[in-house]
Amino acid sequence: MKYVCNSCGSEFLKWSGKCNSCGEWGTLEELSENVVSTGNTKVSNEKSPYRSITEYRESSDSKKGSKNRISSGFEEFDRVLGGGLIEGEIVLMSGEPGVGKSTLLLQIALKLAQKERILYVCGEESPSQLLSRLDRLSSKKGESKNVFVTNDILVENIFNLVSEEKFGLVIVDSIQSVSSLTSKGYPGSISQVRASGAVLTRLSKLTGTPCILVGQMNKVGDIAGPKILEHIVDCVLYIEGGEFNQYRVIRSMKNRFGSTNEIGVFEMTSVGLNEVGNPSLVFLDSKSAVSGSAIGAIVQGSRVVFVEVQALVVERGAEVGPLRRVANGIKKPRLDMLCAVLSRRGGVYLGDKDVFVNVVGGVTVTDPAVDLAVCSAIKSAVKDEVLDKEYIYFGEVGLTGEIRGTWGLDSVLSEAQRVGYKGAYIGNTSVRGKKELKISVVKNIKDI
Ligand code: TYD
Ligand code: MG
Repeated sequence: MKYVCNSCGSEFLKWSGKCNSCGEWGTLEELSENVVSTGNTKVSNEKSPYRSITEYRESSDSKKGSKNRISSGFEEFDRVLGGGLIEGEIVLMSGEPGVGKSTLLLQIALKLAQKERILYVCGEESPSQLLSRLDRLSSKKGESKNVFVTNDILVENIFNLVSEEKFGLVIVDSIQSVSSLTSKGYPGSISQVRASGAVLTRLSKLTGTPCILVGQMNKVGDIAGPKILEHIVDCVLYIEGGEFNQYRVIRSMKNRFGSTNEIGVFEMTSVGLNEVGNPSLVFLDSKSAVSGSAIGAIVQGSRVVFVEVQALVVERGAEVGPLRRVANGIKKPRLDMLCAVLSRRGGVYLGDKDVFVNVVGGVTVTDPAVDLAVCSAIKSAVKDEVLDKEYIYFGEVGLTGEIRGTWGLDSVLSEAQRVGYKGAYIGNTSVRGKKELKISVVKNIKDI
């Protein structure tokens, strides 16, 4: 016998009034697990059916699966999924409140409704709230004829509905607002999220209807309840983008049917989300000539995105207290390391200066290939020398001050050439083929 806290998911062997893990009162529930004895007792009289995989491949029911991708109507969204939705695929989509999950899904529903019937389970909003959003998004009358909305939050009822009537896609907004009869607890609790997720997954797999679940997450960045769903679903998508900029980037954290490397870029407008088909230049600021700014590049799947890195370096004078190293868009430890390398090997002493670094546009860069751009921006800020914005910087900085070429260089150079950059500063590596770009190899950080 086990007890599970329906607020935090911790498991206990004994019941108590208060959860020792999260401190909530009255949240421990008995977990009824069907214990199967391992002894000789026969619990079930049935035998699992099985057949050879060749036979299965030739049978008709394997044909309808996997290969046919269902396009969502948005190329950017399909790209992240690996080419579109697959029959029976279950997708979990999460992101901070207000980032645009419901907006995007309603837009997808409207696009798909041209061909198929779509079921939109709106557990969070009333249909009239959904209508007001619809008015913003849809200009054409009759476009929404095939989008069906339900307010029913019982997954068993949804199961029965979708098994009897054919839908091309089921959207559940959100998994925290629906509940299942098989579990106690209020909607949004761990046990309800788990039970509802299991019912909806079974529904998808049995009927072949793709299903997108919205998973709310809190502002701290945890996908509180839905974390446990990540194991069951086929694909976990995450939308990022700040409140203060219009771009939204979709990534997949897990994808059984595609790469997890691709990104999709959207722009939030007053009439919903628009695809940004060619995002390589959207994260750049103006071409103004000031010191402390350098253009870097990141590689995301089949895509190259240029980012502008800005740095501000302030002499501390007589001020005391810890040095400030503020990093926006790159990891703080990485900035600390780059500052140390610059001080020790790069000929720019930063031990008495505050350093602020920002990546324009609100993107977060984890790729070390942006190191060279960060160091160049800092050096440019210290020396107050303007860098030529027609050149990009691409390379990883090591602890000895050496600059390495990194993976993806070829695609970065081709893309830079395509969008019209004049040249590139790259790490110590050889370039294949002939390029029109002026390429300068920077071997060491002191040569920047
Ligand atoms: P929403 O889809 O409700 O977010 P989520 O479901 O992820 O919580 O998005 C709400 C935000 O999007 C809100 O701040 C308003 C903005 N928005 C627009 O800017 N333009 C639009 O056309 C719509 C529908 C919303
Ligand atoms: Mg919403």
